[in-house]
Amino acid sequence: MVTDMPAMVVVGGCFGDEGKGKIVSYLAMKDKPSATVRGGVGPNAGHTVVYEGRSYKLRMLPSAILSKQTRLMIGAGVLINPNVLLDEIKTFDVSSRILIDSQCSIIEDDHIERDKGGHLRERIGTTGSGTGPANSDRVLRIAKVAKDITSLKSYVGDVSLEVNRLIDDGALVILEGTQGTFLSLYHGTYPYVTSKDVTASAICSDVGVGPKRVSDVLIVFKSYVTRVGEGFLPGELREEETIKRGWREIATVTGRVRRSAPFNFELAERAVMLNSATQIALTKLDILFPDARGMTRFGDLPKDAKSFVKCIEDSLKLPVSIVGTGPEVFDIVDRRVQLS
Ligand code: GTP
Ligand code: IMP
Ligand code: MG
Repeated sequence: MVTDMPAMVVVGGCFGDEGKGKIVSYLAMKDKPSATVRGGVGPNAGHTVVYEGRSYKLRMLPSAILSKQTRLMIGAGVLINPNVLLDEIKTFDVSSRILIDSQCSIIEDDHIERDKGGHLRERIGTTGSGTGPANSDRVLRIAKVAKDITSLKSYVGDVSLEVNRLIDDGALVILEGTQGTFLSLYHGTYPYVTSKDVTASAICSDVGVGPKRVSDVLIVFKSYVTRVGEGFLPGELREEETIKRGWREIATVTGRVRRSAPFNFELAERAVMLNSATQIALTKLDILFPDARGMTRFGDLPKDAKSFVKCIEDSLKLPVSIVGTGPEVFDIVDRRVQLS
């Protein structure tokens, strides 16, 4: 049966760290999807979710950990570091909700070793999490996959089949992307990119969902742009200026300082095109406009903040349906009802 229940893809609009984790955790708690499914590269990602004052750091699990009825799945295209994954499953006590695809490639110690020096670390500025070397072994067809790993046995299954069945049944499914559009191996600032495509089409392919089954592509932009590692960052600010504006961030996985630049409309327009985005989530509006902090109604936002949102909508010709006004999961202006 084909229904009109949506499968939504959430994707990063710039260089990663746009706040996808927080947006997915909000959508999961609010909309209670049947499953949230990770696409993207692997444990090079670092999501921070803040709920009731507690901070949760995730590298492998989908960000819906706090939505107790949501199944947490990892698509076949995602690399798994078994130590990181098993540790997160234990820490967040989610073993009954996990399904990982039997065909996920495995990151081994040797991949991490190869990612910690030489060209990858020194020239590209990788996260050192072993993802590039592990993806190259997958291409060479010598990588181990999840079904070969004893410690993962109880979590392994057929994610693409399960997800497509859920969509058939009219259930809500969120496909969670990681990294960001301009870190894509093909569409990004090559060679300063990650080890595969990470645009919306790739996230669907990671999970095994065809393009006709997705009804919404939510692209996440931060109110300014950040980038870690090497590579082009248009309008990059000096570190003192980044600090002065309150834009300084520390990377979740590597502890590196994120470089920053003002919101870039040209990049955003290209990202909308590359992902066929249907709506926008804009995070960290409170950092640009401190009076927006904690607001949950659009009408309560400061005038300049509202103008900034409207300017994004006008130039990108898409609705900004969700606005982040603080780090907490529910520091959100949800305009989906208002805009529909
Ligand atoms: P990757 O998958 O690694 O690309 O990361 P991500 O997109 O999930 O973003 P990440 O969690 O690395 O970085 C975003 C940071 O901004 C986190 O520390 C979040 O807690 C924080 N954050 C997200 N949305 C908001 C917001 O609207 N306001 C504020 N003040 N902080 C936010
Ligand atoms: P790799 O993905 O570890 O190979 O790193 C390649 C490039 O992508 C480097 O510039 C990293 O800093 C960047 N990168 C990879 N994953 C993320 C992420 O989740 N957030 C931000 N940057 C990332
Ligand atoms: Mg991150």
